[in-house]
Amino acid sequence: SQLKMFVDELPDMPKILGFDVVNGVPVSKSLQIGMFSKKWKFHRDLPPTRVFAYGTSNNTATVPGPTIEALYGVDTYVTWRNYLPSKHILPWDHTIPTAIPATKKGVPTVVHLHGGIDEPQSDGNSNSWFTRGFRERGPTWTQKKYHYYNIQQPGNMWYHDHAMGLTRVNLLAGLIGAYIIRHPDIESPLGLPHGKEFDRPLIVFDRSFRTDGSIYMNRTGNNPSIHPQWQPEYFGDAIIVNGKAWPRLTVRRRKYRFRIINASNARFFKFFFTNGLRFIHVGSDSSYSKRPVMIKEILLAPSEIADVIVDFSESKSDSAILANGAAYPYPGGDPVDKFNGNVMKFIIKRQSEVDTSRVPKRLIKYPSPDLSSAAATRYIAMYEYTSPTDEPTHLFLNGKPYEAPATETPKEGTSEIWNVINLTEDNHPLHIHLGLFVVLEQRELVDEDKFKECMLKINNAVKCQISKYARGNITAVPAHEQGWKNVFKMTPGYVTKILVRFAYIHSNASYPFDASAEPGYVYHCHVSILSRFSI
Ligand code: C2O
Repeated sequence: SQLKMFVDELPDMPKILGFDVVNGVPVSKSLQIGMFSKKWKFHRDLPPTRVFAYGTSNNTATVPGPTIEALYGVDTYVTWRNYLPSKHILPWDHTIPTAIPATKKGVPTVVHLHGGIDEPQSDGNSNSWFTRGFRERGPTWTQKKYHYYNIQQPGNMWYHDHAMGLTRVNLLAGLIGAYIIRHPDIESPLGLPHGKEFDRPLIVFDRSFRTDGSIYMNRTGNNPSIHPQWQPEYFGDAIIVNGKAWPRLTVRRRKYRFRIINASNARFFKFFFTNGLRFIHVGSDSSYSKRPVMIKEILLAPSEIADVIVDFSESKSDSAILANGAAYPYPGGDPVDKFNGNVMKFIIKRQSEVDTSRVPKRLIKYPSPDLSSAAATRYIAMYEYTSPTDEPTHLFLNGKPYEAPATETPKEGTSEIWNVINLTEDNHPLHIHLGLFVVLEQRELVDEDKFKECMLKINNAVKCQISKYARGNITAVPAHEQGWKNVFKMTPGYVTKILVRFAYIHSNASYPFDASAEPGYVYHCHVSILSRFSI
């Protein structure tokens, strides 16, 4: 049976402030946020679904979790507490590198603030996992209380589970939420739509359900004789926004700000409005753009964020469907159908009104990338590697699995040029912890197969004469994606050149700090974790 679309109202997730105000002055705050097993109603006609949800208590926990609103320069501390049962609600695979508690009981979890610039001890390293009550802890676990400095560009981030081998199922179970850093001194003068009603996160992901309401995930792996459950990607038929399948929202004839987060495991979204309404793009993951850009469609890979203004007073009709046109896997996979091709519906009130919000010509200008300052140039090749015992295909970075020792060793406070060579069939969203980067260019490889052959043998882009192959067409980086980002789409068959700036690590130095030691930081594809670096 099929679920009816646009029958549930779009919810707003509960808001938690990451600071207190004492005598009119904002001060730091310590939060306790738990992970709970509970039932969640994804659709009017679907029985409640067992999920894992973040919240301050079991009763108030939601999928997605509460939106944390932090203030620039004011520390937020979070003790993430695991209250999950001894067994997972979804199947997972013990034969891939995975967090496995010695007692075989409990669900390993660890939280990463995606886009946050924080100490490695608070970065949610995949091996810093813990089970219920911190009973068991992963090899790089150091502390219960995470410290978020909030000393970075105001903008949009999200938090999500990051446990080794379990990230994909923990996210599918519901462990995700939005995190916003606000900097009123520089944001308020912009005059963008604001306040609870007109400034809202839209957290979008795909899921499939059984008729009893439970989350459907294929229990059998692609090659079960070697890996009983492992499948590299997950795609669901129902599109969920803020925890409801295909919801609807009634809006006024004025401007709204939507912070759209793609929280899917593998699905790309190409968002557009069926009635021709446009988006005014003002920011992406972590930061604002220099100036607003009017666009008709937005391509968002898993974990990318689009911060947009939609002016419903421009609408010629009384409703607009936010639709999706991205094939899955992207770009070469199946085309969308009438289910996963729909996202949500806006019902636009007839009456016109006075709207005092505006979109200024200039937003926030950050320093432009300075290539001459680059301290190093690196080549990072993504490719699939098949051996009789490694079935199904493994995705490696520079021929190394995630478990290999750290390969890249940038220094904090420096910039580097990374040339990311995607030799796979699919687009991979590359995410770098601690750094923000600007995409400089995407250039097609010529004779890709020959280059790949060499890489599979000697695994060295320079020795394989990358410059001989990286001379095909250049795809311009779209205007709205030219700002500082923490994740970007690595086009298959292309070399994507980025300038990464590794932030200074804030530290209150209350404990001995050795940045080169574990847990370090990672960089990875957001579809499946590939590799890591340490600084
Ligand atoms: Cu959004 Cu390392 O992850």
